[in-house]
Amino acid sequence: MKKIWINDIKNYENQQVTLQAWLYNKRSSGKLHFLQLRDGTAEIQAIVFKGNVSPEVFELADKITQESSIEVTGTVKKTDRSKIGFEIDAADVKLICCSEDYPITPKEHGPHFLMEHRHLWLRSLKQKSILRIRHRIIKSIRDFFDNNGFTLVDAPIFTPNACEGSTTLFETDYFDQKAYLSQSGQLYMEAACAAIGKAYCFGPAFRAEKSKTRRHLTEFWMVEPEVAFMDIFEDMDLAEEFVEYIVQQVVQNCRNELEILERDISKLENIKRPFPRISYDEAIEILHKKGNNTPWGEDFGGDEETLISEEFDKPVMIHHYPMNVKAFYFKQAEGNKAACVDMIAPEGYGEIIGGGQREEDINKLKAKINEQGLSEQTFDWYLDLRKYGSVPHAGFGLGIERTVAWLCGLSHVRETIPFPRLMDRLKP
Ligand code: 4AD
Ligand code: MG
Repeated sequence: MKKIWINDIKNYENQQVTLQAWLYNKRSSGKLHFLQLRDGTAEIQAIVFKGNVSPEVFELADKITQESSIEVTGTVKKTDRSKIGFEIDAADVKLICCSEDYPITPKEHGPHFLMEHRHLWLRSLKQKSILRIRHRIIKSIRDFFDNNGFTLVDAPIFTPNACEGSTTLFETDYFDQKAYLSQSGQLYMEAACAAIGKAYCFGPAFRAEKSKTRRHLTEFWMVEPEVAFMDIFEDMDLAEEFVEYIVQQVVQNCRNELEILERDISKLENIKRPFPRISYDEAIEILHKKGNNTPWGEDFGGDEETLISEEFDKPVMIHHYPMNVKAFYFKQAEGNKAACVDMIAPEGYGEIIGGGQREEDINKLKAKINEQGLSEQTFDWYLDLRKYGSVPHAGFGLGIERTVAWLCGLSHVRETIPFPRLMDRLKP
């Protein structure tokens, strides 16, 4: 008997095949049992007709429970009744493993219950669609950089330095020293771009975020390109081309998943260059006009990002924030501004990219390190990059989970990563 994946069913019309799958739902009426099967690649219905199977098999089909694993042998029939276009006329059903009292039933469950059962919740149609879109986003990221002359350079996870401020560091014992889990691979990519011109790293980042918001995880994934001889404006060009590419790849390759998630696809189709670019000063003006009184000189939080994003139907790039709200490594631009950019997703999904041009002047950088109370000694290697042929360079970091949330239309990042780590969640 030919054993196949459900996804390949179209190649076997009117042939006998064997499927190995889980039962996710069932309906019965008299002489018929309709078994809804899923094997991870797709879903299909198997019809068990009393006249076609042995009494034992008909009995098994009657008793079989949700999420039991089974083997179904039968003939592939074309039908308009199902999304996949085929169903199976069963001749035999075998039990692989019985599932008892599966906790996630087709009724509604609250988010806490579902998060406690995340290892099982992943099997649902919606969660599987999110996993597939996440995969497509990551593939598009890799393709984009690989096709544009970048080299993947892995950054370490244990680091001696803070990159994004000392308040969100996870500290760990490293023999006789203290080490931190990496908040960002950026500083290492700055070293790498001086070696190979265009570098990117892709990996997990860790931040002890003490606020419970719908946009913050303590462990998230970030891709960080860094390019030598690049300024802030070229950096924005790169970010824009990159984000357009990812979104359009998802639109082209994940239509089915987006439909399952009931995402408004036309909003994503519209994500084409150019994206609006506004200065921090212009962003402040927008906020004040909308009745938000964030004083000039303060950083934006989630509420401000949402208000600004309402003005645009594409991602908006806010550039040149005041120096004092940004990390030590930014290049100083005119008027005590940082040569930085944040890209805010439309529809209130928040900041997806943070980046900018780096300070290449060793004395200005040293002054910044001291001003922010960081140790010059732990950054000696980083300062070396400014000693030996320093050049203008720039890059950015894109957060994968916020991008998944935006493209899938999810209100909370907890569903964007297979096993989320939040302030109050370490399990499963
Ligand atoms: O703006 P951030 O902090 O920038 C950096 O880390 C730079 N070193 C990147 C660089 O220039 N190479 O973080 C970049 C992005 C944010 O825009 C956001 O999408 C995501 O990372 N991010 C988080 N995502 C989920 N949970 C968190 N706690 C996040 N913190 C940042
Ligand atoms: Mg940021």
